[in-house]
Amino acid sequence: MNYRNIINKGSSILKKKSIITAEIDAELLLSKLVNKTREKILLNLDEKLNVEQIKTYNQLIKRRKKKEPISYITGKKFFWKYEFYINNNVLIPRFETEILVEEILKIFKNSNNINILDIGLGSGCILISLLKEQKKWVGTGVEVSLSAIKIAKTNAKIQQVQNRIKFINSDIDNFLIGKYDLIVSNPPYINNIDYNNLDVGVKGYEPKMALNGGIDGLRIIEKVIKKSRLNLKNNGLLAIEIGFGQSIKVKKILKENGFYILKTVKDLQSISRCLIAKKIR
Ligand SMILES: C[S@@+](CC[C@H](N)C(=O)[O-])C[C@H]1O[C@@H](n2cnc3c(N)ncnc32)[C@H](O)[C@@H]1O
Repeated sequence: MNYRNIINKGSSILKKKSIITAEIDAELLLSKLVNKTREKILLNLDEKLNVEQIKTYNQLIKRRKKKEPISYITGKKFFWKYEFYINNNVLIPRFETEILVEEILKIFKNSNNINILDIGLGSGCILISLLKEQKKWVGTGVEVSLSAIKIAKTNAKIQQVQNRIKFINSDIDNFLIGKYDLIVSNPPYINNIDYNNLDVGVKGYEPKMALNGGIDGLRIIEKVIKKSRLNLKNNGLLAIEIGFGQSIKVKKILKENGFYILKTVKDLQSISRCLIAKKIR
């Protein structure tokens, strides 16, 4: 069996399961198996696979068939400009979270030395991307999951920013160290009802504590805002990602906690996705 045959076979199995990315997934899984780029595979479709490889490929297809996200099977995900190592202990970095990175880089483009706190570090994708862009910035990542901290550390090493990050394995409730110029957070913000209705590919594989924000989805957002009030320098900024329909409520909580809303950024679907607020009292 050659690359062409196995991709066709794999993608037809995935199509039967209504996986819309069947073809590209079949190619990506082969790319993982033979450790070659997708482009290289498509240029060498007549190359043959041995029996062992065919067996392993079938196992990968079997995992995808059950709706396991492709990024968990391949163990990597692109975010901003970098490839991040991931597994099912961390949220798969999302495209819309790049808005946070983009906005922060715009706002602080002329600031040489800033000290950042990332609440809910996960894979480290936000903080690491920021530190890659600005060589003098430093940061702290606080994360309740020890397994996630390990992954963030690995990513920081791969991207060679580990010496500029402090990793703190703690619940945000118990964390009160330092004063920061910027606090960034992509907290879990999906409410209980929406969480229960999530697609099996998300709910069945991604960590619940990375997604679920309680009855109204605001449980952790509120904690982040209250902690930010204590841990930000005066005039420091909080950049926070929020979910669909949460903008008005979150702005109210921000105002009640002494913040002035500087900017609301919408995503490509025109959903208010990111709020930038300044601590004014
Ligand atoms: C939506 S994920 C974001 C991960 C990563 N920052 C990203 O954008 O891909 C939220 C993260 O917050 C962490 N988390 C949830 N509750 C927390 C808490 N009470 N204290 C600290 N971290 C928490 C989760 O474990 C998860 O890694």
